[in-house]
Amino acid sequence: MAKHPLPTTGTGMGKKAAGSPPATFPSEATVAPKQSLSITDNRTGKTYEIPVKDGTIHATDLRQIKTDPEDFGLMSYDPAFNNTASCRSAITFIDGDKGILRYRGYPIEQLAERGTFLETAYLIVHGELPTTAQLDEWTHNITHHTFIHENILKLMDGFRYDAHPMGVFVSTVAALSTFYPEANQIRNPEVRYRQMVRLIAKSPTLAAFAYRHSTGMPYAYPDNDLSYSGNVLNMMFKTTEAKYQPNKMLEHALDVLFILHADHEQNCSANAMRSVGSSEVDPYSAMAAAAAALYGPLHGGANEQVLRMLGEIGSMKNIPDYIKRVKTKEVKLMGFGHRIYKNYDPRAKIIKQVADEVFEVTGKNPLLEMAVELERIALQDDYFVSHKLYPNVDFYSGIIYEALRFPVAMFPVLFAIGRTPGWLAQWQELLTDPEQKIARPRQVYVGSEKRDYVPIEKRR
Ligand code: SDX
Repeated sequence: MAKHPLPTTGTGMGKKAAGSPPATFPSEATVAPKQSLSITDNRTGKTYEIPVKDGTIHATDLRQIKTDPEDFGLMSYDPAFNNTASCRSAITFIDGDKGILRYRGYPIEQLAERGTFLETAYLIVHGELPTTAQLDEWTHNITHHTFIHENILKLMDGFRYDAHPMGVFVSTVAALSTFYPEANQIRNPEVRYRQMVRLIAKSPTLAAFAYRHSTGMPYAYPDNDLSYSGNVLNMMFKTTEAKYQPNKMLEHALDVLFILHADHEQNCSANAMRSVGSSEVDPYSAMAAAAAALYGPLHGGANEQVLRMLGEIGSMKNIPDYIKRVKTKEVKLMGFGHRIYKNYDPRAKIIKQVADEVFEVTGKNPLLEMAVELERIALQDDYFVSHKLYPNVDFYSGIIYEALRFPVAMFPVLFAIGRTPGWLAQWQELLTDPEQKIARPRQVYVGSEKRDYVPIEKRR
């Protein structure tokens, strides 16, 4: 059955830089403005013409700007890449000011309302929505690759009972690379495809088994009769019943959460996936690095920190005091703020709707009421408005996961399950982009000038 060919190059036609104003196309009567910068170096009086393409200048074009022939030439300096495009990508488009998020051009609101996670994963990896036959083949392939080698369980058993499941997840994703040595043939599209199917299929198994290990429960193996998200609930929560029957509403809520987490362009963990993947290492090792980046409390670990923050606040009456501590920078308001969204994170809006559906089944959650009150107070406060701090994807997702009875430590692991297709699509786009090669940033050296070795007896 022909599936959509995997995108062979992520660059496609040159796309506008995310969030850049739409290109202005001059009418016939007007002369098209030159797409370039004229730069005068006041140190030498020389002027340079630097081309502008897709709202960017190519950083290497700065190297021609020198003070003398020995000069290395100008570099751009951008710690944390606040204003640096590292790639051309056709996967996800975000407009942070307008609160727009689209996967391959499709608004996430429509995918969340009408699609499924596996369908969205196919879209993100292949670039097009699947036909029925393509989705059936994709679903069959993933459903039949959910098992992991039994030796991985021996590795898991080596962790302490209280090991954080994200640490177990990162370790076992990396360990998978030793079971599929073919995976280092990263230039072979068929080999890449097999590893992508394996990782999307096995991420939930690794995640659920990490949780079961932490509770001392026996591993609940995958059930091929269940949907992708239903099987996650099965492997997490099955006990003595002969066959686990997931609650359909909760299964749908989890599927929507995975859709909303599926990709987010060049976030910290996607950058890790690309940077590590650019060395041509196998995708398991690259994804372990991406998952490690996601583990951080400023990134995917924030959903866990939101719950811990709400627990620390304890009750509605303590919210004003906590807000005061945020404004004195003693603490951060976890789940608020975003590098790109300087308006409401569109995912948070949808997740809040899902929360209402979940609580119809699980019962009202005092944490949600506290979160809603915290959001209400924050959005009225000039500090948050002036800093453009709005709820992000992590603010409400943790509350839903808690209502679905996932332990707090599992929240970033659930984020990783949802983000797996995005990481793999970014990795594949990197490898098929002719402009890309091994990532190796420059630096501004601010260390010591040359100095000679001092024998230890002469050191003070
Ligand atoms: C995710 O990049 C992505 O796309 C990530 C993600 C994805 O899908 O991959 O969307 C997922 O990681 C969402 C973000 C989850 N993290 C959190 O909720 C942790 C809390 N948020 C912050 O740490 C922060 O907002 C970041 C890290 C998310 C963004 O930080 P930036 O853009 O680097 O902004 P900054 O840290 O430079 O802060 C700018 C100002 C500072 O104040 P000033 O020094 O200018 O006075 O805003 C303040 C910060 O102190 N600020 C906050 C705050 N976030 C920023 N103050 C209080 N609480 C916060 N949450």
